[in-house]
Amino acid sequence: MSPVVTRRPVPYPALGGCFEQDDIDAASAVLNEAAGPNPNFLAVSYEAEFQAAFARHEGAAHCEAVNSCGTALDLCMMVLKIGPGDEVITTPLTFICTASTAAARGARVVFADIDPRTLCLNPEAVEGKITSRTKAIIPVHFGGLAADIESFDRISAATGIPIIYDSAHAVGARSRGRPLGGCGQASCYSFQSNKNMTTLGEGGAVTTNDPEFTEQVRLRKTFGYVYGPQLRVTTIGFNYRLTKPQLAVGRTQLAKVDRINTQKRAAMRRLTELLADVEEIIRPPDFPDDHAAHLYTVRIDSRRVNISRSELLEYLKREYEIGTAIHYPAVWSWEVLQQLDHDRRDCPVAENVCGEILSLPVTAQSTEEDLEYIAWGLKQTLAALRRAV
Ligand SMILES: Cc1ncc(COP(=O)(O)O)c(C=O)c1O
Repeated sequence: MSPVVTRRPVPYPALGGCFEQDDIDAASAVLNEAAGPNPNFLAVSYEAEFQAAFARHEGAAHCEAVNSCGTALDLCMMVLKIGPGDEVITTPLTFICTASTAAARGARVVFADIDPRTLCLNPEAVEGKITSRTKAIIPVHFGGLAADIESFDRISAATGIPIIYDSAHAVGARSRGRPLGGCGQASCYSFQSNKNMTTLGEGGAVTTNDPEFTEQVRLRKTFGYVYGPQLRVTTIGFNYRLTKPQLAVGRTQLAKVDRINTQKRAAMRRLTELLADVEEIIRPPDFPDDHAAHLYTVRIDSRRVNISRSELLEYLKREYEIGTAIHYPAVWSWEVLQQLDHDRRDCPVAENVCGEILSLPVTAQSTEEDLEYIAWGLKQTLAALRRAV
């Protein structure tokens, strides 16, 4: 890149995929219908069609669309009857709700360490944390890279403990070519705005191969309704459903998510090339075709360089208008979880990694110039801060 570089703001994207004319048309069709002579926002057929398409896409037998990944996880905790006295093992490197949905049901969250290369939950560390009280294990497919499914399958088969995958980052991801929606007991997806597909800003799904599990999820997301000649309510349930415009847009977003993933993977591979000579950072693992390419997360290599992450983020923003995000602070550091009796021992990798990571702004629309600018800005920043130390 030439030494004279034009400043080009690259904010951290609020929209992870893209929103196009077909999405606008799909939402408009629902709104136009509602403004016509037979207004109707009931979503039954749209829901069935979206759920079938999403299940197919993720290689699962069943899907229940819900209004977020948080509610998807919450429903799974309810169906598994997680409660006081139970333990749920998960990763410290995740969004708050992977842990807080178990805590909300009164369970003790037990943190196991992560693999330093993939940043996903380490199955061996999980095995060391299993007790007779362990009622579920929740791995996260971090950034869109599948967790170690085969090892978790083995652990579940040996212990009978159900695996609930937090697949918030992983629509379209695969593990050695195997789709993720039917893995474990269930898989929980997010269609929130910054994911690679979105149902108008919020949304989610639970997929599973287990017909009884999906029925239990369906009951709880729909007031506990049992339909029949007479409507019955046999289970406490809520309303966690998606709206008709969201489901309509879900279909158009789903139709393009593989393209978005492919474009993001290409951009991420290119950024990895551009950062090849940067010694101070640890780049993410490769982006093979199985990767859903949600996050591009690097680590400041604290063994090689003593640079404060917050200074680096501020410098990138102030000097180069390059936006970043932290995915994530260690989940145990949130106040609400600190007040509870959660087990955070023996996670040295996560302790380090959570203080070193930052995500760079890569989108499906990133141009070669954007990527070169991000790489250049990061190199300049590292050089400046290194000199200042
Ligand atoms: C790993 C992970 N799990 C769960 C969630 C929650 O998703 P939602 O906002 O759809 O509830 C997120 C959201 O970013 C996430 O990153």
